[in-house]
Amino acid sequence: MERVRLADGLVYGGDYNPEQWPRETWDEDVRLMREAGVNLVTLGVFAWGTVELADGERDWSWLDEAVLLLYENGIGVDLATPTAAPPQWLLTAHPDIAPVLADGYREPAGGRNAWCPASEVYRRYALRHVAALAERYGAHPAVRLWHVGNELGGGNARCHCDRSAADFRTWLQKQRGSLEAVNAAWGTAQWGHRYGSWDEIMPPRGRHGAPNPGLHLDFERYSSDALLAHYLAEKEVLERHSAAPVTTNMMVGAGAQVVDYASWAPHTAIAANDHYTGVNDPLREQDLAFAADRMRGMSPDRRPWLLMESSTGGPSWQRRNRAKDPGEIVRHSLGHVARGSDGAMFFQWRASTSGAEQFHSAMLPHSGTRSRVWKEVVELGRHLAKLAEVRGTAVEGAKAAIVVDDAAGWALQHGLKPHRGLSYGREPRTWHRALWRRQVLCDVVPPGSDFDAYDLVIVPTLLVVGEADAERLRAVPERGGTLLVTYLSGVCDADNQVLTGGFPGAFREVLGAWSDEFYPLQEGERVALDDGSVVEDWTERVHLDGAEAVCGYAASSLAGGPAVTRRVIGDGAAWYVSAALPPEAVDRLADRLAAEAGLPRAVEAEPGLEAVRRVGDDHSYLFLLNHTDTDQNVTAAGRDLLTGEDAGPALTVPAGGVRVIRESVNR
Ligand code: GAL
Repeated sequence: MERVRLADGLVYGGDYNPEQWPRETWDEDVRLMREAGVNLVTLGVFAWGTVELADGERDWSWLDEAVLLLYENGIGVDLATPTAAPPQWLLTAHPDIAPVLADGYREPAGGRNAWCPASEVYRRYALRHVAALAERYGAHPAVRLWHVGNELGGGNARCHCDRSAADFRTWLQKQRGSLEAVNAAWGTAQWGHRYGSWDEIMPPRGRHGAPNPGLHLDFERYSSDALLAHYLAEKEVLERHSAAPVTTNMMVGAGAQVVDYASWAPHTAIAANDHYTGVNDPLREQDLAFAADRMRGMSPDRRPWLLMESSTGGPSWQRRNRAKDPGEIVRHSLGHVARGSDGAMFFQWRASTSGAEQFHSAMLPHSGTRSRVWKEVVELGRHLAKLAEVRGTAVEGAKAAIVVDDAAGWALQHGLKPHRGLSYGREPRTWHRALWRRQVLCDVVPPGSDFDAYDLVIVPTLLVVGEADAERLRAVPERGGTLLVTYLSGVCDADNQVLTGGFPGAFREVLGAWSDEFYPLQEGERVALDDGSVVEDWTERVHLDGAEAVCGYAASSLAGGPAVTRRVIGDGAAWYVSAALPPEAVDRLADRLAAEAGLPRAVEAEPGLEAVRRVGDDHSYLFLLNHTDTDQNVTAAGRDLLTGEDAGPALTVPAGGVRVIRESVNR
């Protein structure tokens, strides 16, 4: 299961930016890192301009010293290529490195990732520096991992400049083969937009808000591939000089991501994620669980992945950056570990006093070691050390899956749509929440996955779906599983063209139900269903064709028509949910589905008690995280790895607390 070994146990650490501090501070840093149990730090992530001081002139002295200091103190280095932040001299000499927005505005220097993925000048300078870095440190024993750039796409996910336009055309030629194929795929007969030569094709530009959906989706795909190509170019240089594994920190969350990380993950030695909870999200632990389940779902063979960044408190980029509540640092970090991360890392080690991120939280906050955060950071380090044997183990195989796809998300959120306010993350997260509440594990997976292991597969608002993927999803009920499809799934093919003959074209036959008219609701409008639930945002006119109605619309011109349908197929079932059900209705439905499909619960407990198992060769490990403010009782037995004492079979997880049980009975 394990492919890379970054530390003897689980990884613990964060971004370390010694270049921001006087040399004397470094000694205190490493002393405190050891006190907290830090064993890996991301080093040099924005240190291009502080090493390559002028074109080709490099001063490695501080980095040499930092690498050595960490090594001598037994702290591993996750060495970053600093290419997210090109130096000022480079941006000044070549201002056209910067990406161009859809409205033609060229982003000036001053931020990060201010480079166009198609810029040859940027690529040349970046790779030259990466080669110099890799030559210098590639064989250094401190270097455990390479960290390419930083959050590629964060700031430069789409570049609309002429260079990108040319690159996009080359990509299209490879993908589509001929101009005729492009015209057909994009339906350019509409509005007379037919292309007569490749040069006429441009990235979506301007502000009119009605881009051709086929062009738009292809441009999104191209943009993801262009950034991936940059990652691969850096990786190739690193691997020429070093045997250390290579990864990059992704930004995987609930909604449509900036790039299609599912296609990136196989190119990493260990998939890595940055996850920040929304301070105003009342269920942030479930958002976190969703992101973690998505990481596992895209990691090849469900291998362990790594939480590369998170925060110990308020980030500084949200509107009101509230601190975490007591206990959250530990619960959130162990939540990621429970779901497959082989460690927990933060942005950043020591809080900066200046610069854009001067108010961002850190492992060592401005208030120093007397702070609550520091105490919890030390506590987390102790916990992770006690969980060393969990490293490399797999998360228990899930029996449920939720299918998510960035292409579907991009397609849903762009252009003229029946409802222009739908956010892609909403339905996947609502369905995930329903399973999370009842301690049912689910993988969040891309549509190209193998669904054979799953008893329940949920397909929420997957607007765009390719025929091969649709085929494998349709096979789920045929082989005795349960397939649940929501509104706006399978409405369009992989080219973003509507499938005709009744919605949802890709699934209507297997569902035994179809709809012919969409009734998105107006703002504030609500429609009752005959099971008592009240729907906002989305309804549609459904017809039965082999399925039975589970519940129907009780109001509006749809009254009397089916809202949720179910078709029995041998031992399997195919469900269609045509309305945007409120979370409580989704919870009820998911309870029924989970019971019918016999989905295992990790433990039986109240909602808010999170329970997930990791399974090794000799033991299984039950993570119990109590996100509620009352003690929770569960049945489980074994050695509590955090206290070192035997526990169970009746055990209590204190309010806000965590327990990790090495179980007596191996699963
Ligand atoms: C991340 C980024 C870090 C830091 C952090 C603050 O997106 O990778 O460098 O800026 O946000 O939350």
